Parts: sequence; structure tokens; C-alpha cells
Amino acid sequence: MQVQANILQGIDPDPITAYLSPEESMKTMVLPEGYHIQLVASEPMIKEPVAIAWDGNAKMYVAEMMTYMQDADATGEQEPTSRISLLEDTDNDGKMDKRSTFIDSLLLPRMIQCVNHELLVNETNTITMYSYKDTNGDGKADVKKLLYKNDKYELTDRNMEHQRSGLDWNLDNWMYITYDPVRFRYTNGKFMVDTLPSGTSGQWGVTHDNYGRLFFSSAGGENPVYGFQINPVYGRLDFPDQFKPEFQEVWPIIPTPDVQGGDKRLNPDRTLNHFTGCSGQSIYRGDALPKDLVGDYIVCEPVARLIRRAKVNNVKGKTTLENAYDRKEFLASSDMNFRPVNSATGPDGNLYIVDMHRGIIQQGNWTRPGSFLRKKIDSIGLAKNIGHGRIYRIVHDNYKPGAKPHLLDESSAKLVTYLGHPNGWWRDNAQKELIVRGDKSVIPALKQIVIKKNQGDEAGAALEKIHALWTLEGLNAIDKGSLLKAMKDENAQVRRTAIWISETYLKKNDAEMIKSAGQLKNDPDYDVRLQLLLSLHSSSSAAAKSLVKDIVENNEDVEIIAAGKSSLERNDIQRTYAKKFSNLKTTERNMIVAGAGIFKSLCASCHGPEGKGIPTAGSGMPAPPLVGSKRLAIAEKNTAIRILLHGLTGPVDGKTYPSVMPSMSANNDRWMASILSFIRYEMQPAGTKKDIAAIVRPEEVMKIRREDSARNKPWTLAELRNKAKGETASATTSRTP
Ligand code: HEC
Repeated sequence: MQVQANILQGIDPDPITAYLSPEESMKTMVLPEGYHIQLVASEPMIKEPVAIAWDGNAKMYVAEMMTYMQDADATGEQEPTSRISLLEDTDNDGKMDKRSTFIDSLLLPRMIQCVNHELLVNETNTITMYSYKDTNGDGKADVKKLLYKNDKYELTDRNMEHQRSGLDWNLDNWMYITYDPVRFRYTNGKFMVDTLPSGTSGQWGVTHDNYGRLFFSSAGGENPVYGFQINPVYGRLDFPDQFKPEFQEVWPIIPTPDVQGGDKRLNPDRTLNHFTGCSGQSIYRGDALPKDLVGDYIVCEPVARLIRRAKVNNVKGKTTLENAYDRKEFLASSDMNFRPVNSATGPDGNLYIVDMHRGIIQQGNWTRPGSFLRKKIDSIGLAKNIGHGRIYRIVHDNYKPGAKPHLLDESSAKLVTYLGHPNGWWRDNAQKELIVRGDKSVIPALKQIVIKKNQGDEAGAALEKIHALWTLEGLNAIDKGSLLKAMKDENAQVRRTAIWISETYLKKNDAEMIKSAGQLKNDPDYDVRLQLLLSLHSSSSAAAKSLVKDIVENNEDVEIIAAGKSSLERNDIQRTYAKKFSNLKTTERNMIVAGAGIFKSLCASCHGPEGKGIPTAGSGMPAPPLVGSKRLAIAEKNTAIRILLHGLTGPVDGKTYPSVMPSMSANNDRWMASILSFIRYEMQPAGTKKDIAAIVRPEEVMKIRREDSARNKPWTLAELRNKAKGETASATTSRTP
């Protein structure tokens, strides 16, 4: 077969773009020894799948973006004709055999989360959250409940590649998302929102490990993993050396003619040379694949048609990652339509992969007529492959199917026994289900687990205690006694959990809790010390402040401690941002503060959290620093507007960057004016006094938008200089009588 030959003979310079059936496509996938790919579902059962979620009985919900790039112009993208399917594997053979349309008429559903018998859903262009329920068992939702309303998505970008994803229910009972600076909680029947002062990280995908560490990725910033050093509630922290430069190199088995970055993103053999579409990450937490995979980071790279596996290391409390293989990937395919966009650990302990299986992967903003990508799409016929989609699971030789979960039907007492299950999916879902039921009868059993003596498998016993502690927290039933006991546990992660949860008491300056937590300031484990530093920050007491000082002083050689402290301080500054602009008039202040929010959630991923650029290993900064840019000078208003409207292609001040400044023109004038006002006010060249002349009004954006309406490609700085010259000249002429 031609397909097999591709792999055997190395790289085929002219890959086939033709449609392959699931069976043919699976043959193009190269996996490590002992691992196999199995089909779980495919078209016509599902189409354009982007995210999956299981309920406690292992029924699978699939979010399907039916209108995503149905042609190269994104025709019909904003039509509300997308859906969520409900799939079931009734005979437990690993393959879905029953489907129903759970919800239809959706606008590109992007986040789903199962909570008991409810499905939480978020659609594109809104932060609003609904819960759906099927009350008569026909597989279709018949009850829709509003949980949270926020349609002011003006604050985030309107381009659908730049909007929230995730809704990952983390160990700490908060659900995390990307872009919008908030996290959600749904306990005791109440949907709650909490603000993250420094915003969140990430683009498509949020995941957590066994101990509640979150991992983000950003395709726009070409960053396969970041935001994992500390929880975003404490601020943002990344190190330039948290992975080595080589980590960003990818090892595809086919050329990548269709990369948005164009030639500079390609090796001489035309394969992709760097992560670019990285997304849909997960930490493998199951029990059906080899043990050495547990805790590893899995991230999809749909542009290169591959999946990376990375080892996650802890060096004195600092987390670092490295490719698990030498110049190879966990999974690579030579099927041009293989587009993995999500991954997850399943109820059966295997690793699930969501493959959109399509020709065009990038959204229309980057595939406009005349663009590099569009030429490739047209010349190799990528627009033809639409309306497909697959869900696979990766299994291993030794896999023996186990019982299907029935968490939704089981007693709460039984659910407690799953908190120590070897598969993280079971532990998480048992915790979530117990909390959502609000069944307080299990409280004594949970407390019993916390004080249990560890026997045999220490790590396993510790995980059970950690979940018991967070279940108590979620049930509003955490007590001092359990926490004090857990702070003395022999397992470091249990001690760390106890400190984390003790924040409820630390916040209230509880002297006994501060003292007990403080006894861990010289804990042999660095994760414990770091958590103590972060948690003590929530207390305003002198005792807590003095403990923080001790921790910082005693750990001068521990990078994560000093860095953690600065992140907390920057976080405090962010919190007071709104106050900072209090000297301005309300309209102007609102404009700038809104812009600060946009900056944090969107621009920071490329330009750095403070606009000073992001030092990344190897390839230099993804985008130029904005602080001090000449284009942000007061007089350069139109130039700045133009850059935001149509983008910019380098070099900038003699430097070349891996990507270009994307056009933001999909956003309305008010959005544009806000972000422009913020960067012009905050980041203008040194020596310039902060001046409200920096503020850009929506009408000014509208004017330039009209003037340049024929423009369909990014500017170069030379073009912009010419434009500006022309404008000054005509302004002078018109003033002459
Ligand atoms: C996907 C990465 C990315 C994102 C997101 C991004 N930029 Fe950029 N930006 C760039 C790159 C790259 C350049 C330089 C252009 C080049 O080298 O081709 C740039 C250039 C600029 C410039 C011109 C700088 C100069 O000195 O001339 C401004 C202003 C700018 N961006 C503002 C923003 C704002 C505001 C946002 C958020 C709304 C934003 N950018 C989001 C990548 C990005």
C-alpha cells in the first residue's frame, strides 16, 4: 500500500491529501512498541469533533463545530447549526454503538463539563454558561438552565481561535478556562465566579495532573506548554528554561506544506521545524497503559499531524519538561487529514484522542485570498475534506478491559471507595459526584481516610487522602482537625494539600492554623515550602508575614521560592490596576482598564504579561516587546490603529519574529479602541509623560477601518511610514489657506 510505503521510505515529499477511511488512516500512525490505536467513533456518527466529556456512567458527550471552516473563506461559520452528540458503548467493546443529538442549533460549542446528570455548555462569542439535562431518557436535552450570564465578550477577541476553552474541574474544585480572567465553581448547587487578577494562560486546552497542577498551551504563541509553575490564582510564573530549546522542535513523518508561518517554519525536507498548532493537552492519569506514562504530558500538534509525549520533572520545586523520545514523537501520522485537537484519560484507563480529521485546520483569518496558507490550501485541495471526525483510544498490548463505571447510580458510600482508584478519571469523578450530590453522610468516612496510616503503596494512599480532603472541602465540611493531621502526614503531597486547603483559615488570620502551617517552613519537600509561601500570602497577619520572610530568606538558592514571591507581588499590582487609573475620567478609565483586560487575556501570550516580550528558549521572543515601541508614540495614533486592524509583518526594528502580528479586525471599534488606549497609555516610548492624548476613540478606529477597507494583508513598517508621511503632508496642505 502506498500509505505503508510512506513510512518505510521516510519522508514523502508529496504527501497524499486524499480522504482516508478510519482503517486506512490508522495504518498511517506510528506509535511506540506495544501501543496501538483503536477506533472509538467516526463519521457519520460524529462530525468536526473538538472536545469530549464523559458522565459518571461513561456516556460520552462530543462537542462538534459543524460550521468550522467548511470552505477556505469560513462561509457560514457564525450560523448556529453546531451540536453536541451523546455517544454510548452499550456492549463495552470500546466502540461507541449508540448516538443521539443531545443539543443542536448551537453556535460552535467550545466547553463542556459533566456534572451529575447535567451537562455544562459554553458556546463561542460568549462567556455565558448553561446547564442542559435530559429528564426522560431519550438522549436529547429537554431542560436548559442559565447558570451564568456574561455576553460582554467584547473583552475577549471575536476571532474564534482566540476564545476560551477548557472548563477543567481541577482537584481544588474550581473549573479553569483559558483567555477570560476567571474560574468557576459549582458546589452546593451554586455556580460561582472568582477573578484571577493576573488573568489565566492558554489557548485551546487546559489540563491538570494528579496533584492539581494546571498545564496550558498556546498555538498563537507557538508554545506547547506553559503556565504550570503555580496556580493562576497566585499570579503568572514561567521560566525561560522550563524546557530546553530542542523541546520546541517537532518530528513529523510528512512534510507540512500548509503551515501559516510559511517557509521559515519548515526544515529543508519540508517538515515542520517547531510547534505551531499545539493544543488539546492532557496529563495521562490512567491505569491501563504502562506505568511510566502516568504523569506524562500529552500535547497535540494538528499542523504537523503528531502528538508529543513529555516527561514532567520536578527540580527543587520548579517544574521542567522534556520530550520522552529522542528526535521522535509519541504518535505521528502521514495522513494529511489527521488533525488531533484534544486528548483525555478515559474511564477505561486508556488515552483518548479527538481527531477533527479535516483538510484545513486554521481559521479563516489566516487563510484569506492571497495569503501563503490560502495558496497551499487551493493548490493541494485541502478545502475538500470536511464533515469528518474521529475519536480514537490508545491501548497497550497488556490491556484487559475492566468494568464500566456506574458512578451516577451508585451509593455515596461506594463512591468514597473510588477516591483511591488507580485511574485518575475515577478519583476525579467520584470526588465531583460526591460534592455535587452534597451527601453529608459520607463525611465521617472521608475524615477516616485522612487519618488512616499509610500502608503499602504510599503514592496511592496519598492520592486517596488528597481526594478525601478536597471532597471535604467541596462539601463545605473541611475541619481543622483533619487539616492539622494531614499537615503531619508522611507524604509531601498530602502535607501540601493540607496547606492549600488551609487558606480558608489563613485568610481569617486563624492563629492556630498559621502556627501549624508555619511548622512546615523547613519541610524537606520544595513543593510544600512553595505552597506554604503562596498560601500564607492570603493572610494579613504579622505572624504570616514573618513566616513568609523566613521562607524567602532560608531559600535564597531555591529559584522557585524567589520567583513565586515576585509573582504574588505582581499579582497584587494587577489587582489594584483598576485603582491605579482612578485619576482618569470614568469613560477613559473604563476604556484603559478594559484594554488591560484584553491585553492580559490575548496580547500577553505573544508580547509578554507586561508587554516586555517573552524570553523563550531557543528561538528568541515570539513577538517584539511593546514597551517603548516607536509605533506607540502619541503622534503615531493612526499607525497603531492600522497595525491592530490589519496586522504587521516584520522585520521590526531589524528583528525577525517567528510569526506575524495577526489582524484584530474581527473585533468591534470599541474593543479596538480599548486595547489601543491601554497600550498607548501604558507602553509608549520612554520619556513621554502619560497623557490622555494616548486614548483612542471608537470613531477614530471606524474612520481608519473605512479608509483601509480594501486592505487584506498585514502592513510592513515601510508602508506604514509612507502612509503617515502622506497624512502629515495632506494635513499641512489643508491648513494652508
Ligand atoms: C500570535 C502572536 C501575537 C499576538 C496574539 C499579538 N501579537 Fe502583536 N505582534 C506579533 C508579532 C510577531 C509582531 C511583529 C510582526 C512581525 O515581526 O512580523 C507584533 C507586532 C505588534 C505591534 C507593533 C510593534 C512595533 O514595535 O512596531 C503592536 C503595536 C502589536 N503587535 C500589538 C498587539 C496587541 C495590542 C495585541 C493584542 C490585541 C497583539 N499585538 C497580539 C505577534 C502577536
